Amino acid sequence: MEITHENYESLKREINYHNYLYHVNDSPIISDSEFDYLLVQLREMENVHPEWIAPDSPTMRAGAASSDKFNKVPHPAPVLSLANAFNKDDVRAWFDRQVKTDNRISNASFILEPKIDGLTVVLRYEKGLLVQGVTRGDGIVGEDVTANVRTIKTIPLFIPVKDTEIKIPDVMVVRGEVFMFNSDFQKLNAELSAKGEKTWLNPRNTAAGSLRQQNSDITAKRPLSIYTYQILYYEGGSVPETQWERLNYLRELGFPVSDQCRYYDDFESMLNGLDRWSEIRETIDFDIDGVVIKINELPMAEALGFVGKDPRGQIALKFPAREVTTILQNIGINVGRTGVLTPYAIFEPVVCGGVTVSKATLHNFDFIQERDVRIGDRVLIKRAGDVIPYVIGPVINARTGDEKEFHIPETCPVCGHKTERLDGEVAVYCVNASCPAQLIRNIEHFASREAMNINGLGIKVVEQIVNAGFVHDVSDLYILSRESLLSLEGFAEKKADNLLEAIAESKQQPLNRLINALGIRGVGEVMAETLANEFGSIDGIIAADKTMFEAIEGIGPNIAQAITDWFDEESNKKIVERLILYGLDPKVETHINDKKDLPLAGLNIVVTGTLQNFSRDEIKDFIKKNGGKSSDSVSQKTDYVVVGEKPGSKADKAAKLGITILTEDQLIKMTNV
Ligand code: IVH
Repeated sequence: MEITHENYESLKREINYHNYLYHVNDSPIISDSEFDYLLVQLREMENVHPEWIAPDSPTMRAGAASSDKFNKVPHPAPVLSLANAFNKDDVRAWFDRQVKTDNRISNASFILEPKIDGLTVVLRYEKGLLVQGVTRGDGIVGEDVTANVRTIKTIPLFIPVKDTEIKIPDVMVVRGEVFMFNSDFQKLNAELSAKGEKTWLNPRNTAAGSLRQQNSDITAKRPLSIYTYQILYYEGGSVPETQWERLNYLRELGFPVSDQCRYYDDFESMLNGLDRWSEIRETIDFDIDGVVIKINELPMAEALGFVGKDPRGQIALKFPAREVTTILQNIGINVGRTGVLTPYAIFEPVVCGGVTVSKATLHNFDFIQERDVRIGDRVLIKRAGDVIPYVIGPVINARTGDEKEFHIPETCPVCGHKTERLDGEVAVYCVNASCPAQLIRNIEHFASREAMNINGLGIKVVEQIVNAGFVHDVSDLYILSRESLLSLEGFAEKKADNLLEAIAESKQQPLNRLINALGIRGVGEVMAETLANEFGSIDGIIAADKTMFEAIEGIGPNIAQAITDWFDEESNKKIVERLILYGLDPKVETHINDKKDLPLAGLNIVVTGTLQNFSRDEIKDFIKKNGGKSSDSVSQKTDYVVVGEKPGSKADKAAKLGITILTEDQLIKMTNV
């Protein structure tokens, strides 16, 4: 931004407004890092033109004025904030500056503490009794939230909590950060959403909203926590003189203190100690937005004085923000390989978690509706660790009225086909089997071992033939030409011939396999077999209606609907017609009436040990083809146990139960009738 007086004044007004929204209204419309950035810009202008600085500059105070919701309480000492560093170079520069001011700092020891992303509270204890809890306000005067503070279970109402020899000053004022553990936040939101109530955006907003509640019964229901880190003031007694001892002292008196705080003998070892924090950030159960670096020797640190409201003896090393806001420009739709439509956010590029992002997932359509996400909204997005960026929700307070509501697409954005949503399901589907987005997955499934079992037609080859435009639906497989295959990379004559042969062989697959291969949602191997046995032919299934499917045991209304929809669909009907035209004859083999005549009809057979002629899957297929049922465990119901080499305990069990044991050859002979 150009440094003009006009720009300076307008930036000042903007910052003051955001300050007000944050501190008074508890409803910020920009993220902390965006706010920090505005302040950085203002400071830069003030560095060039110090004559512009007036008492109303946001750089002159820590927060905004208090609202009139609560009684005002002056703090016994200023509740200061921290200057920010963004990398180790900044930290070193800070250290060098302090050493220049006071050479003793070169021998200082250091403390690292998590910079908890919560809200400051100032707790006043008189003769050990908690008498007041106050927010930070503008750092000079805060708001009396004693009733709310008392509901936070880990805040001691009386110190010392346990028997100890330690003496406490008559008056002691302790500063801490109120926050919510991520696990508590998730539990709270899960409970709210189960009750159909509005959920919270993030732990910090929830903690802020809860602490500044007029009704402390409500605060009591929110799982707030606290970590303390500073003795702001004391009188009538003494307290330790180093930060490390003070943390231990606070802990000893019964205050919660983070166990992530660490002591370092000197500056260099502290600098190395900073490295562990990016990992800690990912593993701890509360949000931190940086590490606070504190000179341990407090009298020495305090003697350094202040810059504005920031004490020189401490600095915050800020992490790249993981939550930022930006403007949602549009909602895009992905069509997955199973036909599921998933919405994603397209927004003004922002730096989030240290990288520039412009897209994030919106989870599903229910999420958009529940959170009331609208196009044009300012949205809060998050990118943490390896997780892909996601939208947390809209910043409702930032609405201008120009935002547009989003509607679930009625047609597939890839093929234009009507979309569908089944009762009680979150997902919205494109049911067009020849939709290009689903085609590759459909063909891969069609060719898979459990379906048409086409050897040599794995995902790579499927991608090749689809991308080359040779196959537009599964029926095209059966008119694939040798020349087409030979034109593909990696296809020599043998490979092409083998594939064509495997495809031709698959024409003999039984009806149940074909039904499974069609990829009807909810219809897998078992259901396909049931349908094949029940209807006996593809025509039988095409002619059936929803009620006939529902009448079959194991088929519920959703699956019955999915089957009906699939066969009602014109493009799907055409696929089936063409499959038949190209020579598939799927009525045979597995129909129950035919099965009765097969040599192993009605027999339960268990196989154990290694066989000569079959793999385990092949023998199961063989038994099934011949009308038998293969099972994995021997029971009273077992008719035969086929024993190969190195049989397991199944052979012993069979002998015990008096079940006939067969060799592989004997089984083959039984089928040669
Ligand atoms: S020390 C003079 N220590 O961060 C003392 N602050 O950006 C200054 N915060 O307003 C604060 N964890 O609300 C300190 N371990 C910690 C902290 C911490 C979180 C907050 C605090 C402060 C803000 C400064």
